[in-house]
Amino acid sequence: MLAYLSMMAPRLVELRRVLKPTGSIYLHCDPTASHYLKMLMDAVFGPKNFRNEVIWRRTASKGLMSKRLSRNHDVILAYQISEDGTWNQDVVFTAYDLDALDEKTAGKYTHRDKDGRLYQLSDLTNPNPNRPNLTYEFMGLTKVWRWTKERMEKALRDGMVVQPSPGAVPRYKRYLDEQRGKPLTDVWTDIEPLNSQAKERLHYPTQKPEALLDRIIALASNKGDVVLDPFCGCGTAVASAERLGRQWIGIDITALAVALIKTRLRDAYGEKIRETYDVIGEPVSVADAEKLAKEDPYQFQFWALGQVGARPAEQKRGADHGIDGRKLFHDEKAGAKTKSIIFSVKAGHTDVSDVRDLRGVLDREKAEIGVLISLQEPTKPMKVEAASAGFYDSPNFGKFPRLQTLTIREILEGKAKVQYPSHGDVTLKKAPKYEPPAEEHPLLEFDAENKS
Ligand SMILES: C[S@@+](CC[C@H](N)C(=O)[O-])C[C@H]1O[C@@H](n2cnc3c(N)ncnc32)[C@H](O)[C@@H]1O
Repeated sequence: MLAYLSMMAPRLVELRRVLKPTGSIYLHCDPTASHYLKMLMDAVFGPKNFRNEVIWRRTASKGLMSKRLSRNHDVILAYQISEDGTWNQDVVFTAYDLDALDEKTAGKYTHRDKDGRLYQLSDLTNPNPNRPNLTYEFMGLTKVWRWTKERMEKALRDGMVVQPSPGAVPRYKRYLDEQRGKPLTDVWTDIEPLNSQAKERLHYPTQKPEALLDRIIALASNKGDVVLDPFCGCGTAVASAERLGRQWIGIDITALAVALIKTRLRDAYGEKIRETYDVIGEPVSVADAEKLAKEDPYQFQFWALGQVGARPAEQKRGADHGIDGRKLFHDEKAGAKTKSIIFSVKAGHTDVSDVRDLRGVLDREKAEIGVLISLQEPTKPMKVEAASAGFYDSPNFGKFPRLQTLTIREILEGKAKVQYPSHGDVTLKKAPKYEPPAEEHPLLEFDAENKS
């Protein structure tokens, strides 16, 4: 915990430095760390700038625990740095549950019309006595009314005005089902975590639901503002900011996250989205790649696999031995077997034994294609060994070398690619395609021209 807090503290100071006076910071954590982080946040952002401790209930049902209650919430700490912090209080209301109304609402909406709709009678008189143009006679009473005479008469014609008894002050029928709902509080129970079937799920271990990020972004920023997620993972805040018409910056320490975000955006918006953002910090030359390989061989591997659209193989003990990554494809009719390409990534010296090893793994795994990605150029014996593995004969797409070698230089220059029946790549779970919202909604304000 101390190591974690020591990592977080200087980062919070930097986030404070780059936050605009109109900005907000939302820190998502679990109850084992939230109390320490709140003290850090108070120290960095100031206790008077504390706005909320949001409790996000994670699921509606949880199992019994033998020694304690099951843990079912996360904490989101919200701070701003000035009184000018953007706050769109009207954006989020939670819908009334008409079958289980809370006591206060049920006590207000006591009337029911012939269709069964609940309503309350609300005041039609104006609290301001000095409004000569709103002073007139209506249903036999001269008063200062809330609306103009025309509007009042229209409401009467529409059956929205009720005079409780002859001579009584008329009142307006306010229907419960036309209200925005209850104001949102700091306990959020209406956003489900991602389940295994969720369409947006990308199999990133800590992926958050977009609905959660949508809410925070809509409450605390306006269209065109910048959203920064300094621990962005597979880019939920990025996806949500993009959809809600905000600018965004995502930072993550792992190349896997960067690869996933690129794919997520491409799947939602098409190839052209890539022209609208920069990626900073990824290798763009062989020298960069060599540097990354020296500094962090795992990140090098994640990055190289990301370049060819492969996923890192899970490093479970005993499983997938000799495999660094996988890519899956379909080349038969829908529902037929999923086929696989296995990858071995070599940052250092490579020779013919690496090709032989990969060939052995290919046979053992019964994978269709194997690819050796290396920094070093393959030697002639390596090429000969690879060629001797023959071809994978796709039922519909012809022949593809079973064992392929690919260098980082070739990948960066775009000269060579993994050769496979590429029409049915199913490796990275696809993010759902962006669908413009059906109707205007404040959460989903967006710039349609840019997102066609
Ligand atoms: C809890 S996850 C974020 C998940 C994200 N909200 C999503 O929906 O995918 C935290 C992320 O922080 C990244 N991370 C860890 N230490 C970091 C650091 N020092 N700088 C930047 N990112 C870091 C991890 O790689 C991980 O992706």
